[in-house]
Amino acid sequence: MKTLHQTYTLNNGVKLPKIGYGTWQIPNGEPAYKAVLLALKNGYRHIDTAADYGNEESVGKAVRDSNISRKKIFVTSKLKSHIKTYEGAMEAFEKTLNTMGLDYLDLYLIHGPRPFDNPNANSDKGNVAAYRAMEKLYKDGRIRAIGVSNFEISDIENILNNCDVTPAVNQIGYFIGLDNDEIQDYCESIGIQITSFSPLAIGYALSNETIRKMAEKYNVTPAQICIRYDIQKNTAPLPKSTHESRIIENSQVDFTISEGDMEILNNIRMDPRQFD
Ligand code: A2P
Repeated sequence: MKTLHQTYTLNNGVKLPKIGYGTWQIPNGEPAYKAVLLALKNGYRHIDTAADYGNEESVGKAVRDSNISRKKIFVTSKLKSHIKTYEGAMEAFEKTLNTMGLDYLDLYLIHGPRPFDNPNANSDKGNVAAYRAMEKLYKDGRIRAIGVSNFEISDIENILNNCDVTPAVNQIGYFIGLDNDEIQDYCESIGIQITSFSPLAIGYALSNETIRKMAEKYNVTPAQICIRYDIQKNTAPLPKSTHESRIIENSQVDFTISEGDMEILNNIRMDPRQFD
């Protein structure tokens, strides 16, 4: 079976497509609408958005207009990182569903452990309050799975110590060159699936010499090496492109990187922050 059609099973039994389509930075309106329709047309069945991306409206419309049964599409959205109350999370969820024109989500994540504009805040109590709202929505059947994004080990421990439902997913930046071993080992040890945003290191990975040479060796593109790497690391990458040829390219990863070559990729150190 093609990798694009393969799934992981989350800790509550829900199936998550191994490859998803990311929509960060794709503007609401025609760009997001067309891009999501292209992704769905080309076989993607997980569409990832967030209230913060500002494109939920067009993403939802594309899902509804795709002529694909809603049950066959896995839709993720995220609670804005500054919303840290029970009532706030409830309201935000209803707003997301209304904006998207959907009556349930497959996955809903707390977008960040702390407000993106206040990274030093202590949001432990707020995360528990927001997550408790998500648990209620989950138990009421409004969301098929709940989880977190950008959470560190201590942030997850806070949830485990104070809530009932183990997060199904932690969505983090995950690409060749970024050392995520500690958080990944921790998540895997308690059954939390990693989903990977920016699998191409926001594009930086594509010009890396080692990755380029490896792509030549396997007769694939650097982007395909990056996406295949994330899958062989048991994560669910969310590549994004607005170009159909790249949307297709990013889904064609039916080859195997050898253990030795995975080790070479593991040893690359490349943090896009160094390019800022
Ligand atoms: P574009 O939308 O113009 O195709 P990441 O997923 O790591 O955040 O990287 C996304 C960036 O990489 C986007 O700027 C996207 O640009 C570009 N991109 C996505 N897929 C490919 C590809 N197969 N080849 C080259 N660039 C790509």
